[in-house]
Amino acid sequence: MSVPTHDARRAPFVSVSFARIVTASALFALATASLAPVAALAKTPPPKAVLDASAVAAPDRYSADAAQQIFAAGGNAVDAAVAMAFTLAVTRPDAGNIGGGGFMTVLMDGKPYFLDYRERAPQQATRDMYLDDKGNLVPGMSVIGHRAVGVPGTVEGLWEAQQRFGKLKWKQVLAPAIRYATDGFVVEPWLQQRHDTAAKNFAGKTNFDAYFSNLKAGATYRQPELAQTLSRLAGDGGREFYEGRTADLIAQQMYGHGLVTKQDLMQYKAVWRQPLTADWNGYQVVTAPPPSSGGVGLIQMLKMKADLKQAFDGLELNSAPYIHLIAQIEDRVFADRQQYLGDPDSYKVPVDKLIDDAYLAQRADEVTPDEVPGATPVKPGLGDALPEKAQTTHFSVVDKWGNAVSNTYTLNGDFGSGVVVDGGGFLLNDAMDDFVTKPASANPSGASGVEVNTVAPGRRPLSSMTPTLLLKDGKIALVIGTPGGSRILTSIFQVMTDLFDFGMTPTDALAAMRFHHQLLPQKTIYFEPYRPITGELAEQLQAKGYMLEGQSFNGDVQMIRVQGTTPEPAADPRGVGVGRVIR
Ligand code: DON
Repeated sequence: MSVPTHDARRAPFVSVSFARIVTASALFALATASLAPVAALAKTPPPKAVLDASAVAAPDRYSADAAQQIFAAGGNAVDAAVAMAFTLAVTRPDAGNIGGGGFMTVLMDGKPYFLDYRERAPQQATRDMYLDDKGNLVPGMSVIGHRAVGVPGTVEGLWEAQQRFGKLKWKQVLAPAIRYATDGFVVEPWLQQRHDTAAKNFAGKTNFDAYFSNLKAGATYRQPELAQTLSRLAGDGGREFYEGRTADLIAQQMYGHGLVTKQDLMQYKAVWRQPLTADWNGYQVVTAPPPSSGGVGLIQMLKMKADLKQAFDGLELNSAPYIHLIAQIEDRVFADRQQYLGDPDSYKVPVDKLIDDAYLAQRADEVTPDEVPGATPVKPGLGDALPEKAQTTHFSVVDKWGNAVSNTYTLNGDFGSGVVVDGGGFLLNDAMDDFVTKPASANPSGASGVEVNTVAPGRRPLSSMTPTLLLKDGKIALVIGTPGGSRILTSIFQVMTDLFDFGMTPTDALAAMRFHHQLLPQKTIYFEPYRPITGELAEQLQAKGYMLEGQSFNGDVQMIRVQGTTPEPAADPRGVGVGRVIR
């Protein structure tokens, strides 16, 4: 195995095997050359601009810089998004990835699209693969190490999106990422902290340390093997990951330890699905369908809150009675989620019924200010019968032509499974943990589930990722999303209602307090370090019967509001993101 170089001040070294194949300067030449004479390489002449500028809300400055380069080169929102995703795979190894999966919601030439590039269970996966002989979960097996790994979808997703909608050449959008992997980027203290926590979990169990032990604050961190992988992708196209040398390296890494085979990789395809849409507040919501639970949940929350207009009238934002009503709405959303939501290619998920106006009005009717939390068990709303058989990062982009991309993708936990592909230099996901690994148990996000989301060969695990767009008269009005597991939908819901029900600016809406509640554990309101629930508010909620629990993380929302022709990007103050208008 070769080891990535790092901090130039700490005796850097380049892996011998890598140096033999391609030098850092050669990669740099590829990266810069491919960005240079861009106008000549563009596939079609640009249409007329309809916005004052392009804009991004990015989870780090490097990905914002990458988008800026792509826009300067004549690229559109999809080109910028793909460049950002590859860049984050280098500069945010905790969550950005090529070894994971995700969802992309796109508005292109006025039409909405949704791309599912979620991981899939390998063909050898079985329902009980995480249980021991006695039927108990083997601790950690679905989150750490080779057996936690699902078949990655990110590269196929980015390839598919860029081939369909991009204006630039594929290798141009990979150029910024190759440059960051080759030349390195400066590690910030928060990334080292995240690394140190993960390294403790992975110690002695995976090869994480061999690649990432030098991720130290202040160091310039270089990843020559990753640069080499990205260069192969740039040269040979996205299928290289699934059929070429990269696929061989993944299969070798898995052999004897995990279940993902070359066959699994060759069979992987991203899926274009109908985005989920709903009318709300004079806007059209365009969001994630199954295998995300997020779009269904978001629409349910927005509509139930609108149905309860009278009950909410005059309530102060985030006061105890306000939180109490929202918590009851969330109970109902999560009761439905665990019963009905899963991979639509395995089950006929009753999406239309779940977001039906009459159904939601009836569910909203059950919500009352006097409800005692936990007193009446909240059941799934469509009956108990099963449906017919049948740590993440987000960025938002608009271009001056009015196209938009909302993209959330993930390795699941921070740094995924902790398994690095030897010779490939990238981490693999632990997405298998998003399945119900032991039916009727809860995953670390506290989101439980039943049969519909059990492990099966080729199935996609249920997700909460909710990349969302709002359209006004068919034009982009909001691009929004966040990481956070099951907190994703409740965070997006809160920011959207802060913006549109309370008239806040994007910056204020992101800075407002957020809380989280879901069906299980019952009666629990989670608060965040950024704006903790304390004092009188805490006492009032406790008096109502809630238990309060602190959580370390409540999302990193990246959003762009578009008013008229003006994009207003905003990055969550909880993270290190950047909102940037690009002219
Ligand atoms: O797909 C999902 O819902 C999870 N794998 C997302 C995990 C996540 O957001 C972790 N982020 N902090």
